[in-house]
Amino acid sequence: MEVYLVGGAVRDELLGLPVRERDWVVVGSSVEEMLALGYRRVGKDFPVFLHPQTGEEYALARTERKKGRGYYGFEVHASPDVSLEDDLLRRDLTINAMAKSQSGELIDPNDGQQDLAARTLRHVSAAFVEDPLRILRTARFAARFARQGFGVSEETMQLMHRMIRSRELQEISAERIWQETLDALATDSPAVFFSILQRLQAIEQVYGEIEAVFSDVSAREPALSALEQVASQTDQPCVRFSVLVGSLYFHRQEEDTLEVSHLARQPGLPSSCRELLELTVELQQASHDVFKLDAQALLALLRRLDARRKPERFLDLLLIFSVIYKSLKKANEYPQADWIQLASRRIEEVDIRQWVGDGGASEEIAARLKRAQLQLLEEMMDARGSP
Ligand code: CTP
Repeated sequence: MEVYLVGGAVRDELLGLPVRERDWVVVGSSVEEMLALGYRRVGKDFPVFLHPQTGEEYALARTERKKGRGYYGFEVHASPDVSLEDDLLRRDLTINAMAKSQSGELIDPNDGQQDLAARTLRHVSAAFVEDPLRILRTARFAARFARQGFGVSEETMQLMHRMIRSRELQEISAERIWQETLDALATDSPAVFFSILQRLQAIEQVYGEIEAVFSDVSAREPALSALEQVASQTDQPCVRFSVLVGSLYFHRQEEDTLEVSHLARQPGLPSSCRELLELTVELQQASHDVFKLDAQALLALLRRLDARRKPERFLDLLLIFSVIYKSLKKANEYPQADWIQLASRRIEEVDIRQWVGDGGASEEIAARLKRAQLQLLEEMMDARGSP
């Protein structure tokens, strides 16, 4: 049997980027031989194994053919007569379809090196269409390598556009969509991912209702630039996503929580992401207007922000509000965030233990707490001279 390094590791090495994960292809072997050599089988549908010592992935060279609709409808053919070239031909992009032998020779039958040099993401063959997830992958690679100057080839854009017109993306499960989306959000240029999906008219098929706002260029462009802004400040995908969606809704100037709650409730979106997204849409307007709020409304905002119990989420939300506001209002500062932090700290100064011994009911203590907190906030607001 022969073993080759393939896929992302070969690509990243040629790009001079750190290699994150090494995948191997095994030619001329069989499931039985791999098991006898001590490899552990992991793929149920595909002949994929883990190396007994390194834990790296070794896959038997295979060809695939789509059986019908649905992501898992593949007919997999793996046998000792499948060549390395056959295996490379079934792959998504030419830059991902190169291999390196153990003696260091590069095997590149699909001109991946040429596309690498030209900074082009190009599909390997017509078999690209057999897996609609590749549309999201291609947009994600464009986002990941945008800084290196990569773009998607015109032919590949056309091919993907045809796939979208025949509604291929609807075959992908929500879990896989969010897995790809979160990976794309974590790249250096997440806005590129959404721009490409927009150019392909794929937003509605992937994210549903958000398309209604996204297709409006005067909402989309500022939202994408806010996304770029936040990407330079945090690498957290959910914070980045909340900025994108929050900006779209901010632009609209009308709170349409129903639509967002639908988006936020898609299966596969992690619950921490959902929470951040919902709070962004619910609270951003109050945060932007914080200097105009009365003490009651300010207290209600602070309680929803819940800095005491959720300090990290609180700071994430302030970052989200601040990026959205600065980016959309072209402002340099967001003094609202400092004010909210100050007010949050002040209301925490009230210590309910002072009333616990009085024997009052819990509602009575809650009412006293609220009165004391409102009073503190009013004092703060008077000192500041507002509203
Ligand atoms: N691949 C493919 N089609 C897919 C998924 C994967 O053709 N839908 C192939 C590509 O050749 C890819 C390889 O399998 O390079 C490994 O996939 P994966 O680990 O997901 O991607 P990498 O290219 O290794 O990128 P990353 O650095 O993100 O892991």
